[in-house]
Amino acid sequence: MPIVTASAPAKVNLWLGVGAPGRDGYHPLATVFHALNLEAKVRAETIEPGAGIRITVEGEGADSVPTDASNLAWRAAEAVSKLANVSADVHLHLIKSIPVAGGMAGGSADAAAALVACDALWNTGLSRSDLIGLGATLGSDVPFALHGGTAIGTGRGDRLTPVLGRGEYHWVLAFAEGGLSTPAVYAELDRLRGEDVASPSIPDGLMSALRAGDPLALGGELGNDLEPAALSLRPNLGLLIEDGLDAGALGAQISGSGPTCVFLAKSREHALDLAARLSGTGNCRTVATASGPAAGARIVG
Ligand code: C5P
Repeated sequence: MPIVTASAPAKVNLWLGVGAPGRDGYHPLATVFHALNLEAKVRAETIEPGAGIRITVEGEGADSVPTDASNLAWRAAEAVSKLANVSADVHLHLIKSIPVAGGMAGGSADAAAALVACDALWNTGLSRSDLIGLGATLGSDVPFALHGGTAIGTGRGDRLTPVLGRGEYHWVLAFAEGGLSTPAVYAELDRLRGEDVASPSIPDGLMSALRAGDPLALGGELGNDLEPAALSLRPNLGLLIEDGLDAGALGAQISGSGPTCVFLAKSREHALDLAARLSGTGNCRTVATASGPAAGARIVG
């Protein structure tokens, strides 16, 4: 039976500006996404006609991942099959290395990889922009997992404009125990901020740091409006961020809605050194290093 494997990257938000919620409950964003070479993989294999969709999972947090229609990868396969008018008889095997509910768009990366894998498996020939359109119906972060690189996201974060920056950036990721619910973090932000909320925008300094490829300048420009809300729900994360800054990180913040914390290093070697120091603090479950910008979802086998 035919098999296709696709991968998709984790993301960090170099900047995450959040406006007041609209009537649909979603918050308008002005964000800068950055894809990392920490990747989700999905192996899609054709199974007998009429068998439907089957999901199995291995890796990071596999036990807590649903294997039914509530899994975004399932919905991705269903969406491609409907658009291409083929029967969705497919076994999706998810190989997870991005933490579940960690603020790094792990579920969205699974969905993006599933979209690309099913498109290839069924020879549907959808364009990248068709897939991005489908991705936006699944979740706000799915389009960027397809796009990759560094990009400005507006709307719900699903309207993307590529950023033509320079250089490679080296990161340390500190994974906290357990996840944080994205809707709960947005709700906490609304509670903390009250009514008067300005429209979000992206600082010029961040864009010039990216154009110059200057990690030192970028470190000083990172920002995340969701951070106070994530810290309010998980105050211990503040200690982790301080640990990283004390250990010489150029910048440190919560990734997306958390609880993963990300630290910008000067170089690959510095990232390894920072990772070793952070893993000794006892304030996080595990650490990893990664670099970006990384490619968007693609076929790898
Ligand atoms: O789009 P997605 O399903 O990933 O969003 C998950 C939840 O995060 C939404 O239900 C909403 O509560 C919150 N969200 C938001 N504003 C955004 C993106 C997500 O309020 N721009």
